[in-house]
Amino acid sequence: PARYAVFGHPIAHSLSPTIHRLFGEQCGIALEYVAIDAVPESFADAVHRFLAAAHGANVTLPHKAAAFALADERSAAATRAGSANVLTRRADGRLAAHNTDGAGLVRDLVERQQCALQGRRVLLLGAGGAARGVAWDLLDAGVEELTIANRTADTAAALAGALGVTRARARYWQDLAELGSFDLVVHATSAGVLGQPLQLPGTLVNPQTVGYDLSYGGGAQSFLRWAREAGARAACDGLGMLVEQAADAFALWHGPRPLTDPVYATMRAALA
Ligand code: ATR
Repeated sequence: PARYAVFGHPIAHSLSPTIHRLFGEQCGIALEYVAIDAVPESFADAVHRFLAAAHGANVTLPHKAAAFALADERSAAATRAGSANVLTRRADGRLAAHNTDGAGLVRDLVERQQCALQGRRVLLLGAGGAARGVAWDLLDAGVEELTIANRTADTAAALAGALGVTRARARYWQDLAELGSFDLVVHATSAGVLGQPLQLPGTLVNPQTVGYDLSYGGGAQSFLRWAREAGARAACDGLGMLVEQAADAFALWHGPRPLTDPVYATMRAALA
């Protein structure tokens, strides 16, 4: 069978091998998919070695920018994010970078979480790699106002500038309490994963607000707890985004896009 892998560091607890195996079973496609731990210094070598005899690889933290940099060609989605979560070896050996994170988030929000984006006010917390991976897709989905707040103000301003539309604007983290409430608050900082406290004002939330953390598992819990305590309509972790970004990668490699609901249900049960 064709070979695939996910590269990360750490990677031991990655759900991607199981997700792709379940997709393959569902679609009747034989594949082998492994998790490969690579430290940053050896990432490029490890990818080149693996893809010399394989078809594709997913890439997760902390390697998404490096994956983008080492590719020979880059999709529009990867280029605007400056990062890649999918690498594919072309027939001529060239490596193509793509990014399915933003599309995965939007699909999970709209189709699974019943969180419409058209005309909505959205707050994006963070302006690092994770935030850049989803910002353009939120605007493409019709968000009316994308407010970006980041601990380091310059980074938020740079992202708003790169987005290049008046619908996207940067605000100071210190001013979060003055911004009113949002239809959707997307948590894209690494504070939760790093185990650092995040102080957020409850005024960001109204009874219709959806809170969404791009991560899942332990790292998402403090943001989700805050969203629930602030009275949000829903508090969602990034498991649905993970499954949807994987389905887009699977479709890119194999053709059919698998049904994600049964795989999401299996992964949710496994995570509980
Ligand atoms: P990732 O790929 O996870 O986004 P990153 O590119 O290093 O990682 O970005 C980390 C993001 O989390 C940044 O927006 C960072 O804010 P700064 O630009 O000010 O560093 C944010 N972040 C990390 N720890 C944080 C904390 N304790 N409170 C608030 N924001 C934090």
